[in-house]
Amino acid sequence: TALPYANAAFHIGHMMEYIQADIWVRFQRMRGHAVHFVCADDAHGAPIMIAADKAGLTPQAFVAQIAAGRRQYLDGFHIAFDHWHSTDAPENHELAQDIYRALRREGLIVERTIEQFFDPAKGMFLPDRFIKGTCPRCGTPDQYGDNCESCGAVYQPTELKNPYSALSGVTPVLKSSRHFFFQLSSPRAIEFLKGWTQTPGRLQPEVLNKISEWFAEGEDGKPLLADWDISRDAPYFGIRIPDTDDKYFYVWLDAPVGYLASLKALLGVGYEQFVADPAVEQIHFIGKDIVTFHTLFWPAMLHFSGRKVPNHIFVHGFITVSGAKMSKSRGTGISPLRYLELGLNPEWLRYYIAAKLNARVEDIDFNPEDFIARVNSDLVGKFVNIASRAAGFLNKRFEGHLSADVGVEGRMLLDTLRGQSEPIGTLFEEREYGKALREIMALADRVNGFVDLHKPWELAKRPDQAATLHDVCTVCIEAFRVLSVY
Ligand code: 2FM
Ligand code: ZN
Repeated sequence: TALPYANAAFHIGHMMEYIQADIWVRFQRMRGHAVHFVCADDAHGAPIMIAADKAGLTPQAFVAQIAAGRRQYLDGFHIAFDHWHSTDAPENHELAQDIYRALRREGLIVERTIEQFFDPAKGMFLPDRFIKGTCPRCGTPDQYGDNCESCGAVYQPTELKNPYSALSGVTPVLKSSRHFFFQLSSPRAIEFLKGWTQTPGRLQPEVLNKISEWFAEGEDGKPLLADWDISRDAPYFGIRIPDTDDKYFYVWLDAPVGYLASLKALLGVGYEQFVADPAVEQIHFIGKDIVTFHTLFWPAMLHFSGRKVPNHIFVHGFITVSGAKMSKSRGTGISPLRYLELGLNPEWLRYYIAAKLNARVEDIDFNPEDFIARVNSDLVGKFVNIASRAAGFLNKRFEGHLSADVGVEGRMLLDTLRGQSEPIGTLFEEREYGKALREIMALADRVNGFVDLHKPWELAKRPDQAATLHDVCTVCIEAFRVLSVY
């Protein structure tokens, strides 16, 4: 799963991604596959450095504080990562530098001098987000350095009128600096990426469609995909670029390397052998906002440094709360921690989110009324109902023993349930969780039909019907077991 920035607590959007992946991981393990499920905090970058400074902490202390808060969410929602790491850990420094050196050896790193806004009061180059000014198109004041929220114009920070630093308020000055670029526009990179992205089954069709725009030719006859600026100047919280004193990797260079660093920290000395095994697959679960990084930059970094490339990138949409879009850093509407503090069962949220998920890049909505209705009707009314009709009688009347032979009708019902294992498995494999749960609930409906037909509560009143009661309750509890596994 994508590495969350270590600048804020988790919001429901994070939980959705982790729940989607956790279900898939559990499913793969039930099918006999070995899975290493890893994630990490994305610790670097200017925004984190600036937030730490504001909080009066070192960046290290700041991200450690955030990291310390992760466990309660993950445990609370039964998200069973095998390892949670940090992109500031030694494994990541080493791996990121190794990858960079390999790209350099391949001749794919070039140096260019560029001009950027520099905050003379703070003594640092300003990231686009920290430059504000008046929109060059519509004249709205206080717009960000890359786009106007009022008219939607997209521009370079240098095009802003009356630019100022959002950090100090002073007018930034243009200053030139040497930057390192990863040559994604080189014919080799383009050729590799076309092949990788178009490999059948690798990307969802809508994702392939979207990123293919980068391969289209611009006016100069070259693909739109440009070289990627991977360096930032000191002061920066990040990983030092080898053979420089004052250059750091841009956070998006070392962030995905964190996937490997986390796996390496988990596997220890077995890591190299593990990743060299061609039978090993690398699979990412990510949101639709970070597709370019994962489908272009990351595979190219891996390929040209001689590493295994991802087999699949599974992209999901956003989660809205009662139809309202949520802010990436702040979240809104529902706090996962508050949910747990209120004593709400984490399985309810897992179920509800699973019931809404599919394999497409669609947004899903968390709606409180709908959530309550779903939990009550599906989980309580249909699923738990089956067990609650049978378990008490089995314990009280039959010492918790099941009957040896439930008769033809019961056997047929159980065979029907067991026979759905493959089609339901296929839906989980395809991440069509919503469809899988609809199938499973249809099976629960059939079992409830059996309960209503035989009415164990009435059988229990008739001493001559004890054997039938035993059979009916046995069918129910076995059906409940099968549904629980599904
Ligand atoms: O968008 C984000 O929250 C990034 N921190 C995701 C990084 S994913 C990976 F590359 F590390
Ligand atoms: Zn504007």
